[in-house]
Amino acid sequence: VRTVTVELGPRSYPVVVGPGARLALPEHVPARSRRAALVTQEDLGIEVDPGIEWRRFVVGQGEEAKSLPTVERLCSGMAAWGLSRADVVVGVGGGVVTDVAGFVAAVYLRGVAAIHVATTLVAQIDAAIGGKTGVNLSEGKNLVGAFWQPRAVLCDTDVLATLPRRERLNGLGEMAKYALLGEAGLERLPIEEQVARAAAIKARLVSVDELDTSGSRALLNYGHTLGHALEWACVLRRRERPSSAPDLRHGEAVAVGLVFAAVLARVLGRVGEEAVLRHREVVSAYELPSSVPGEITAAELLELMAKDKKAVDGLTFVLDGPRGPEVVPGVATGAVLEALREVGAS
Ligand SMILES: NC(=O)c1ccc[n+]([C@@H]2O[C@H](COP(=O)([O-])OP(=O)(O)OC[C@H]3O[C@@H](n4cnc5c(N)ncnc54)[C@H](O)[C@@H]3O)[C@@H](O)[C@H]2O)c1
Ligand SMILES: [Zn+2]
Repeated sequence: VRTVTVELGPRSYPVVVGPGARLALPEHVPARSRRAALVTQEDLGIEVDPGIEWRRFVVGQGEEAKSLPTVERLCSGMAAWGLSRADVVVGVGGGVVTDVAGFVAAVYLRGVAAIHVATTLVAQIDAAIGGKTGVNLSEGKNLVGAFWQPRAVLCDTDVLATLPRRERLNGLGEMAKYALLGEAGLERLPIEEQVARAAAIKARLVSVDELDTSGSRALLNYGHTLGHALEWACVLRRRERPSSAPDLRHGEAVAVGLVFAAVLARVLGRVGEEAVLRHREVVSAYELPSSVPGEITAAELLELMAKDKKAVDGLTFVLDGPRGPEVVPGVATGAVLEALREVGAS
């Protein structure tokens, strides 16, 4: 078991990674807590024991469950039970659960302690670390939320054994991102080691840019500008013809976005062809897709990317370069189109 620290002065906290990490839960429960609200999902079947009186609060499946009605229902249940300011909320699940549990902990009684037991790869290397919590509105994802750092994040690699293949791939898309953000050879290490190193990168970026204002944390969007646009293009097509539309999960779309970002960096003369090959190698080592499904057009992707929230000054991308990956604003449309065609957009 390895421990990575998110350094935030008095609010620093450990991310514990390894087989059986969830068994350490009682050690991280605040000494004054008398009760723990376990926020989790039905059928997850991952048992945790906080070592104090506890009650289970269930969150539904998927993005629809990440909602204000869920938050209200959980807060009401906690109030009816008498959960106090000294007590603790423990999120046990993937990113949907930790986002909701973290937000409930941030707002219930104006803030109670939170601990996350992250059970998906996405939650272990991304969602549960860093204090971004929140829920969706019908107008869009993650539109209501708060920064609320947990007391500890437990990443038990044993529980990853039951993850469905598609969920695993989804997480590996983010893992590929960390591999390309500067952990050369990450893809060849044992999974516990990969999770620990990825968590360490996330922890470091959160430490220097807790509130996502200085630009450092923006590096975590590597591969995401195109990734988000691709995810959207797939959602739009599924609405029209649910059975035959291309279906890329977030991590898979990010994988294509990583290869695209490398090609774009080469088109702009920031890196050479060997960097593109390295991106392709990492993505293929994780058995992730590296090209845009053929029917999705470059024009459509360009339009979707222009709507991306980071597009303040022309198109903005995180791009590799002589100093490593950095945020690059104002990228010319022509270069973007050329790179999109090279990764398969029609
Ligand atoms: N706060 C952040 O910084 C941040 C970062 C990245 C993603 N997110 C959010 O995280 C969410 C996605 O998280 P996710 O990918 O973990 O999805 P998820 O939470 O929906 O989990 C995916 C599925 O796996 C199941 N599951 C969880 N653990 C399992 C296990 N060990 N074995 C078998 N099944 C298991 C869940 O019940 C669910 O059906 C999104 O809402 C996204 O916005 C937040
Ligand atoms: Zn992501």
